[in-house]
Amino acid sequence: MAEVIDGKSVAADVVSKVKALTAELSAKGATRPGLAVVIVGEDPASQVYVASKSRTAKECGFHSLQHTLPAETTEEQLLKTIGDLNADPSIHGILVQLPLPGHIDAGKVIQTIAPEKDVDGFHFINVGKLGTGELETAFVPCTPAGSMLLIQRVRGKDLSGLNAVVVGRSNIVGKPMANLLLAANCTVTIAHSRTKDLPALARTADILVAAVGRPEMIKGDWVKPGATVIDVGINRIPAPEKGEGKSRLVGDVVYAEAAAVAGAITPVPGGVGPMTIAMLMANTVASAYLAAGLKRPSF
Ligand code: GUN
Repeated sequence: MAEVIDGKSVAADVVSKVKALTAELSAKGATRPGLAVVIVGEDPASQVYVASKSRTAKECGFHSLQHTLPAETTEEQLLKTIGDLNADPSIHGILVQLPLPGHIDAGKVIQTIAPEKDVDGFHFINVGKLGTGELETAFVPCTPAGSMLLIQRVRGKDLSGLNAVVVGRSNIVGKPMANLLLAANCTVTIAHSRTKDLPALARTADILVAAVGRPEMIKGDWVKPGATVIDVGINRIPAPEKGEGKSRLVGDVVYAEAAAVAGAITPVPGGVGPMTIAMLMANTVASAYLAAGLKRPSF
């Protein structure tokens, strides 16, 4: 049976390190880390995520600011809000919760965030830094950064000689994940919906990252014995066995099947999920250290 990678416990370690770093920053007389979260509209899932981000920011001792804007907010108004936050020295991290309403150009909004406050790592400057291996100064998107910490807990920091297969090519997870694995010396393949014989390719992976958003797409016999399996998917599916109208969360991997073959695997929930918010806090405290002219802490 595979080792179960406890994302909740690793995330708690990250958050307690962020708290300690925040206290050290205050002791040095520097401004405490400030995180602004901007949400437009009333998408219930987004509201849950945003509340959780604000709560963790407060727990870390941050100055935590939330802008909740109505769904009718114009692009111009949103760009003005971002401009004000860019200019505010008490704010070190700006996160605009996605998705945005259809009448707003999300790409334009993201590129308006000052790169040094882009704790989501979505600005072209940060994407370019990650792509060119400038990891010392890049902000890396939180979900792949958190997945990488989990991989390192199992495999160490240098992944030389290992084959990694990333299933999914999104800008938020698949592509930055592939770049992180490459920077750690893996041989990396990105697979997607047009890939030929995905099961055979997946079986070559010492590290298999599933980030497709399709419930239980990856079967146990796609997993190489001893592989490290990172399941980024969080999918809600009907669970009539729990009662009428009930549902449950599953990943992109058939967990029980894969756990019987893998060396280590992340569960859903409790694997990658908790890491995303923890890494947002890590990026924000790092931004505050850089703004104070101090060495960036590493995680
Ligand atoms: N919506 C879903 N995931 C994310 C994320 O990582 N960042 C932002 N800003 N919005 C999201």
